[in-house]
Amino acid sequence: MRRMSASINHPLKNYVITIDGPSSSGKGTLAKRLAKRLRAKYLDTGTIYRTATYLTLKNGIDVHDVPQVVPFVSDMDFDFRHVGKNEFEAFSGEESIEKFIRTPEVDANVHYIATQSAIRQALLERQTGFAEQWKDSYGVILDGRDTGARIYPQAIAKFFVVGDAKVRAERRFAQHCDMGKEIDFETVYQDMLYRDKKDAPNTIQTPDAFVLDVTKNDADAIEQMALKVLAEKLPERFSEVA
Ligand code: DC
Repeated sequence: MRRMSASINHPLKNYVITIDGPSSSGKGTLAKRLAKRLRAKYLDTGTIYRTATYLTLKNGIDVHDVPQVVPFVSDMDFDFRHVGKNEFEAFSGEESIEKFIRTPEVDANVHYIATQSAIRQALLERQTGFAEQWKDSYGVILDGRDTGARIYPQAIAKFFVVGDAKVRAERRFAQHCDMGKEIDFETVYQDMLYRDKKDAPNTIQTPDAFVLDVTKNDADAIEQMALKVLAEKLPERFSEVA
């Protein structure tokens, strides 16, 4: 079992770690577990692309009209607010928009927004800004597709979570079932393959990333592997106990 040095309240203070990988690979689960354990701030960067998509659609702007979308998303009214100690939700004005950004309509349109480099560029600063805002007091965990490559290349540790598409589709299918959604496995699987293809150009495994494979490892094992890497990177902050 690995434990943090008792004298340090925020073992990731001053540092950023990144967790990237395809959808339903469990990177969000790992990020949340680490954020809780290390009392660091956690941002799911996919939230930004989902928010941009939701607000673009809501304002009647064509998601394919890049010259119109870029200035709109650059100025869009939204920020991240704490929900719980370590996690954040997207707010627009005083309203949490979390439930509006995870709809089938946003799912179906988000890749138009997320695959345009000019739009990605316009959303970059909000992500680096989050890391800079919280890094020095708590430490930051970013999860997404390109956080280790583009958002925070200087991260102290980078993880790339992979998993067999069928295994990932099973996870997604179980989540749908838990939420009471009526959907068959094949639809979920085909949707996953489609999204993997769309997201592939921006799903970046950097050469210095540590690969975690969820195909044969459960969430506990993945977390322990990540902690082992952190203990090697930051020995003064993490100590191993029998
Ligand atoms: O992880 P997710 O399904 O919530 O992500 C939503 C979309 O945003 C998906 O199409 C992948 C994309 N995305 C991205 O291109 N880069 C990121 N850093 C995070 C998400």
